[in-house]
Amino acid sequence: MARAETRFVCQNCAAAFPKWAGKCDACGAWNSLTEESVQKGPPRSLGGGSSAKGRPLSFVGLIGDAQAAARRASGIAEFDRVCGGGLVPGSALLVGGDPGIGKSTLILQAMAAAALGKGGQKLDCAYVSGEESLDQVRLRARRLGVAEAPVRLAAATSVRDIVASLDRADAPAMVAIDSIQTMYLDNLDSTPGTVSQVRASAQELIRLAKTRGFTVILVGHVTKEGTIAGPRVLEHMVDTVLYFEGERGHQFRILRAVKNRFGPTDEIGVFEMTDVGLAEVPNPSALFLGDRQREIAGAAVFAGIEGTRPMLVEIQALVAPSTLGTPRRAVVGWDGNRLAMVLAVLEARCGVPIGGNDIYLNVAGGLRISEPAADLAVAAALLSALTHQPVPADTVVFGEIGLSGEVRPVSQTDARIKEAEKLGFTAALMPQRRGRGMERANTGGLQARELTHLRHLVALFENAQRPERKLGAGGGRP
Ligand code: TYD
Ligand code: MG
Repeated sequence: MARAETRFVCQNCAAAFPKWAGKCDACGAWNSLTEESVQKGPPRSLGGGSSAKGRPLSFVGLIGDAQAAARRASGIAEFDRVCGGGLVPGSALLVGGDPGIGKSTLILQAMAAAALGKGGQKLDCAYVSGEESLDQVRLRARRLGVAEAPVRLAAATSVRDIVASLDRADAPAMVAIDSIQTMYLDNLDSTPGTVSQVRASAQELIRLAKTRGFTVILVGHVTKEGTIAGPRVLEHMVDTVLYFEGERGHQFRILRAVKNRFGPTDEIGVFEMTDVGLAEVPNPSALFLGDRQREIAGAAVFAGIEGTRPMLVEIQALVAPSTLGTPRRAVVGWDGNRLAMVLAVLEARCGVPIGGNDIYLNVAGGLRISEPAADLAVAAALLSALTHQPVPADTVVFGEIGLSGEVRPVSQTDARIKEAEKLGFTAALMPQRRGRGMERANTGGLQARELTHLRHLVALFENAQRPERKLGAGGGRP
């Protein structure tokens, strides 16, 4: 009997090899190759009546006369904003995230809200669970207080069954598949969850969504190592990729768009995990600063921008003399390389002897910041920790630091200042604004202290150490 032909597929990047190896040559992942049988001939499609000869395309209309398909809002504002203002009919959305972070909860809540018409119009929604039984889904719905929402439920893992029941004129407007890793096509030999199955299943569902005009939401688990097939191999197939993230110990959850064919990718949605599901957080700044201790050394409030929304967060630093040859650097919520850069600039350009210490940096509340504008706030937190001088509690800090120590302007200064004012801050340590010249006092009730070089920030802390002067309490620029 002839041996079935197999190949080894990397579960990280989907590259295929004839032989097994410990390391994937394509992406460098270790221990990620699994054996899968080779599909003979072109893969069969389910339904859709494809013929071997192919059909001529029927070109319909011109770009110019295309009616913009109305977006469908779910009614959960944080979710809709990240999607770019609602879900586009016929599109595919991937929601990735660590297991247990709350993807099923989010999607079930979104489906229920859409079905109840929270977004303006009642939508026909379906939720297909491959992980939980119908009773478990109902139990969850009851706990979330959405048990009465008219969402169609199904527990299924066979894509053939799902396609058969959705390939009809009265298909729902939104279909959630939870999760794509549990789905399988019976015309493939590999087990569910492998790259081939995940890819082929997603392809079938996305194809159907496009022909029937519904939005398909695929839930995908991803692990830190990325070795489980899923979101990575699907990212290019779908229109929108959202990641749901958060620290397990924190109740905050951030929904972040990393790809969006129909909207911006820098938007985030903030949720709080409560015992009755996810609650929207319309004003994250107040929440992130909620349990802040005032006037402690080693903390600075950063006025950041996430997408279109200003967001204030506290950056905490701890600087302690090191007993190690190579001092420790631990960073949570920020980029370790950027911390190294800020430290180097402090040391080399401002003469601050900080490099020999153990340094811990934390963005409070579990938020992850990627903006360079946080540089100055990080420097302020570090200097504050080093000099034991608190940054005044009513001061926000933002600005990018260049390698020569210059403080560079950042975008959306006005939005940052407005948000700070709204939350009762009275001063800002910030870069010099472009082209404002003399009228720069125009910051409402907020006192703007414009810094052009990191040295000026260092001087503020040095001056503050003298008893007669306090940082932020007037005194002009050093
Ligand atoms: P879940 O949505 O099942 O995560 P995922 O689908 O991403 O794997 O969320 C599971 C976690 O959320 C679990 O640890 C319990 C918690 N949770 C709450 O805290 N409150 C709730 O109301 C629900 C439904 C879940
Ligand atoms: Mg789940």
